[in-house]
Amino acid sequence: MDINKATALVTGAGRGIGRHLAAQLAERGAKVYATARRPESIDLDGVEVLAFDVTDPDSVAAAAEQARDVDLLVNNAGIGGGTLLGDLDGVRATMDVNFWGTLSVIRAFAPVLAGNGGGAILTIASSASWFVFPGTGAYAVSKAAVWSMGNALRQELADQGTRLTSVHLGATDMTKGLDVPNMTAAEVARAALDGVESEVYEVVADEFTAMVKSSLSQDPRHFAARFHEFLTA
Ligand SMILES: NC(=O)c1ccc[n+]([C@@H]2O[C@H](COP(=O)([O-])OP(=O)(O)OC[C@H]3O[C@@H](n4cnc5c(N)ncnc54)[C@H](OP(=O)(O)O)[C@@H]3O)[C@@H](O)[C@H]2O)c1
Repeated sequence: MDINKATALVTGAGRGIGRHLAAQLAERGAKVYATARRPESIDLDGVEVLAFDVTDPDSVAAAAEQARDVDLLVNNAGIGGGTLLGDLDGVRATMDVNFWGTLSVIRAFAPVLAGNGGGAILTIASSASWFVFPGTGAYAVSKAAVWSMGNALRQELADQGTRLTSVHLGATDMTKGLDVPNMTAAEVARAALDGVESEVYEVVADEFTAMVKSSLSQDPRHFAARFHEFLTA
């Protein structure tokens, strides 16, 4: 995909990776709808700002109605999540944003993408699609679901020519409470957009995530030791 000619919509563009994605899309020449729950949180020049909450069906439908020229949908909005045996409302909230929210945005924009030649979907998943940081079971389950959803939708959207790229990363410099190797949010955004341009299925953004992914073919018992080794190397 040629981002220079694209019209992109980014969820959660008010801060973090989403803000960098919106800014870099504009730098690469795309028309950009930068969306956020609080539109006033978007401080970028040269973008169109839309109010957008991925868990609010009316808000999702209104954005899909307004941004009818989108051919690159960027699902970035996401929240953390604690243990599965902790607060059940918290587990549901994590799934509501990361899984159900992302799916409902894709369902709303799939016809828009079809109408604009197929286009592409970029979804920010995580290294947690493939393993669990202690204490973050709900987040890991949601990101595993996001990864699998992408694999399913790649098949379901193939006939309309929509490509799908998911991005997997360990942590950014903004991540709080996890002492793991990280990239800057700007570097993650760059790797993600390069992935869209080269139409890869998955961007494995860093060495840590590559190690996590390669561990899937091995006995899971060995992973905890490798995880510890990696972090203390
Ligand atoms: N940072 C990391 O280390 C890391 C690692 C792996 C994956 N990721 C993934 O990367 C993505 C961006 O993360 P980040 O680090 O940039 O996080 P962040 O700084 O916490 O930003 C999250 C963004 O999602 C938005 N959001 C949350 N709930 C929303 C909703 N219901 N509707 C619309 N927007 C909503 C937030 O908007 P508000 O400002 O309104 O809250 C915010 O813009 C997420 O999907 C995250 O899971 C991050």
